[in-house]
Amino acid sequence: MNKVVYPGSFDPITIGHLDIIKRASEIFDSVTILILKNFDKRGFFSYEQRVELIKLATKDLKNVEVKTSTDLLVEYMDRNHINNILKGLRNANDFQYEYEMALVNKALNPNIDTVFLLSDPKYMMVSSTRVRELLTYEGNLENFVPDSIIDRMIEMKR
Ligand code: PNS
Repeated sequence: MNKVVYPGSFDPITIGHLDIIKRASEIFDSVTILILKNFDKRGFFSYEQRVELIKLATKDLKNVEVKTSTDLLVEYMDRNHINNILKGLRNANDFQYEYEMALVNKALNPNIDTVFLLSDPKYMMVSSTRVRELLTYEGNLENFVPDSIIDRMIEMKR
């Protein structure tokens, strides 16, 4: 079985993440969305809230699951016998960051490969950071997060 793990903060999931997940679900037999701690970021939504929003956004995708871990990514992958990491790339900044991360993960476990999917150009300006900002200012979230989660997301922050 061809499995992939899609790791990230997902704080919160965006329409760009969902596009990558949908495309990966057609390439791989199973996609595990894995919420991990980013050492450089403070949380906005709780882990429980992030899981709930991802489940809501991916409920129609049969081969997609959501997990959380407080471990290193490679440790989670080792425990669950998964060798592929999936990342989405919007631009050269993403590439620089993800390339370094892929090399670190490869150094930690040489059996692991990172697979990159290029972001659809229409989602290139979409990021969780902008979503958090829009939510704080009560801006229009329509082109930034899946429609299925907008109401619940607003409710969570009330
Ligand atoms: O969505 P993000 O914030 O860019 O995701 C980054 C994330 C969470 C995937 C990355 O920080 C991560 O892998 N964290 C878990 C700890 C780890 O394995 N770090 C890499 C080697 S030091």
